[in-house]
Amino acid sequence: MSGAGEEFQTVTRKKWIARKCLSRRNRHKSESDYLNDCPDVNVDLFQARLERLCGEMSQSDYFIVTMETLQQQLDTLKRPLERIVCLGLGPFTRTYQALHQAAFIISVQQLHKINKALYYDPVFRETEKELIKRLNGTIINEDRAGKHEAHVPTLFYLPHCPYALMHNLLWCNWSSQSLPNVLLISNSFEMLTLNRTLAKSNPKDHIVRIMNHCTEAPLEDDYEQQNVFNDLSLHCFPSEKLPGTDNTIFWTRSTPLPVNEDELQTDLNIDDEMSALSIRS
Ligand SMILES: C[S@@+](CC[C@H](N)C(=O)[O-])C[C@H]1O[C@@H](n2cnc3c(N)ncnc32)[C@H](O)[C@@H]1O
Repeated sequence: MSGAGEEFQTVTRKKWIARKCLSRRNRHKSESDYLNDCPDVNVDLFQARLERLCGEMSQSDYFIVTMETLQQQLDTLKRPLERIVCLGLGPFTRTYQALHQAAFIISVQQLHKINKALYYDPVFRETEKELIKRLNGTIINEDRAGKHEAHVPTLFYLPHCPYALMHNLLWCNWSSQSLPNVLLISNSFEMLTLNRTLAKSNPKDHIVRIMNHCTEAPLEDDYEQQNVFNDLSLHCFPSEKLPGTDNTIFWTRSTPLPVNEDELQTDLNIDDEMSALSIRS
């Protein structure tokens, strides 16, 4: 893909998702049918492939620079990383985006010597769960819709996930004790709120409410594979930037959101979105 000739148009991830959703309406076989039809991998062979990829990942500029950014935030927090929670990784034996993201988060776990790395995605099949276990991860067995508490410094890895997962993660940690323990790599809050007209005008939306109290470090995507690490940022919520505990209005929680996977299209008219994308990219 990176060697594409000039006759190919650049397709951004958002454009790709939007097109996929449009064309999905017109075809009988859904994306999940395609994923379900993918044959199972041989776990031993795939484990070796994933381990090789982790080795390459840890040497990549993208990984090294991202780890420096993470370390700066941990230095501010003055505490080591103790836990990883990875949501919405995707079917990593079946799509290359999820595969490279898996190599990334496993490499973070190895670098920081994390004992507790928890994973949940409803699409995982048994072979994918087995691979995660073999690489020292733990599968969460229930869908908590993003509601995971951070009692200790925790890296939450939610690459290209539904908005509600990030929202509910904030909702669940909405206190001056918990929020500083949340280090979140997800789609940029800046970009998410820019694109979500409804959320912006909703005073109860926790992502909108945290925007002025969060540090967002965009993670520059110079990775060799395109559409894997685009539009991601590291978001942190340092105590100094949070309102005082006496600010009861701020610290009053609103409600969690239901997780809607096609939500990119629910908030915006799809045709408006497509024309906006062709102007922006
Ligand atoms: C747009 S895909 C992103 C997949 C992959 N990370 C990528 O970038 O290609 C969103 C993912 O979120 C997962 N997901 C949906 N609801 C979830 C939930 N409640 N908890 C965790 N993951 C969820 C989906 O199964 C899907 O794999």
